[in-house]
Amino acid sequence: MNLPFVPYRIKVVEKVRKVSREERTELLVKAGYNLFGIPADSIYVDLLTDSGTSAMSDAQWGALMQGDESYAGSKNYFDFEKTIRGIFGYKHVIPTHQGRVAENLLFSTLLTKESVVPNNIHFDTTRANVEYKGAKALDCVIDEGLDPEIDHPFKGNMDLAKLDAAFEKYGNERIPFVMLTITNNSGGGQPVALANIKEVSSWCKERNLPLIFDACRFAENAWFIKQREDGQQQRTVAEISAEVFSYGDGCTMSAKKDALVNIGGFLCLNNDEWAEKITNLLILIEGFRTYGGLAGRDLAAVAQGLREVLDEDYLEYRIGQVRRMGELMEERGVPILKPIGGHAVYVDAKRMLPHIPQSKFPAQALACALYLEGGVRGVEIGSLMFAAKDSDSGEMVYPAMELVRLAIPRRVYTETHLAFVADVCVNLMSMGDKLQGLEIVKEAPVLRHFTAKLKPVNGGNLISE
Ligand code: F0G
Repeated sequence: MNLPFVPYRIKVVEKVRKVSREERTELLVKAGYNLFGIPADSIYVDLLTDSGTSAMSDAQWGALMQGDESYAGSKNYFDFEKTIRGIFGYKHVIPTHQGRVAENLLFSTLLTKESVVPNNIHFDTTRANVEYKGAKALDCVIDEGLDPEIDHPFKGNMDLAKLDAAFEKYGNERIPFVMLTITNNSGGGQPVALANIKEVSSWCKERNLPLIFDACRFAENAWFIKQREDGQQQRTVAEISAEVFSYGDGCTMSAKKDALVNIGGFLCLNNDEWAEKITNLLILIEGFRTYGGLAGRDLAAVAQGLREVLDEDYLEYRIGQVRRMGELMEERGVPILKPIGGHAVYVDAKRMLPHIPQSKFPAQALACALYLEGGVRGVEIGSLMFAAKDSDSGEMVYPAMELVRLAIPRRVYTETHLAFVADVCVNLMSMGDKLQGLEIVKEAPVLRHFTAKLKPVNGGNLISE
């Protein structure tokens, strides 16, 4: 028997509407071949993101009914604080309404125009928040973490030689702290090894630099450490997480991932002076320090979600679900980023559709075809998102990879849904060069991928007859 153990059963369901191929074709044309423009109720399997899309448990829904909505000193805050201190171990716990606000508060308080922040790879909002302060976001992941075909157990690891080079160039004057994203979302949901975290921490301590984790997917990272790192198999995910955080000085957290809620976040710090300044800013832009932009009931759901995410039966099933969908694709020849990450499968559109040049958006064409053929929504991480004109030469510079990320919401889809997604990908593979590239009709000057309108290059169908 090789069927997985499913650590929950279904108590509440959400109706999914059957949408015909004709309707999907119309919707796609109307949305200008941009999946951000498709109404969510016209999607069968929505793998746009794993953020804020989790199914909450009965215990979380129960906790919502126990919300204490007092402006100051809500009992839910004290439970939230105690639960987070118990897992993360930091002194100050500052609630925010999502992860990017925790980033913004930290960066607004500590960065200047001269600052440089090293990270394995900054997630988009983290990079944007660093750059918004005029500072520099520096990615220092190991080289293996940038190659979609290399199999390596900890592709999220930081490269100490790159950190050395950054320190030599910028020194303590310009580097206020170092960040480490666990798991590394922008590099494919890849974990960081405990040994690497320890090394980065010693490196930081020797230079008197704080280490701050971007902890969105910390439980998934700890699960990979338990599975893949020597000597970790007998420990619990809670013990591993506690050790991970003991090497740092604080963390930013989007509770929309590993706290299993639909909205929420927080910032943890040991430094009293930073915490005080940030709390003052929090009161200005988010809310009082015992709710930070959330309702009391939201804090209760986060605390309960954090207790649930450390359940190893849950983690085994969750990460197994992502892996099984990836394996179903790989076995049948769909090129995917290796190894399969913790929260998503990334399809390599450059290898899957070699006949479409990057100027014709192969990953966007693939994402649209997944919707057209199966009602599946993923997200393009390729030229539509990243290609930009070089400011000196005026020439278009294309990103190294053309990927479609299929991020799996937690506790939402069955194995049948995910096997269906794999089937749709395999069918598209067999269509070969019938799949056409796209060209832009209209685009915004920044973050164009959210609103751009496109059309198939041949002026006809995305998939030619
Ligand atoms: N850091 C990482 C590593 C993330 O993946 C995200 C969000 C954030 C920070 C920001 O958190 O959305 O609560 O403000 N990632 C989502 C995604 C949006 O689809 O990967 P937020």
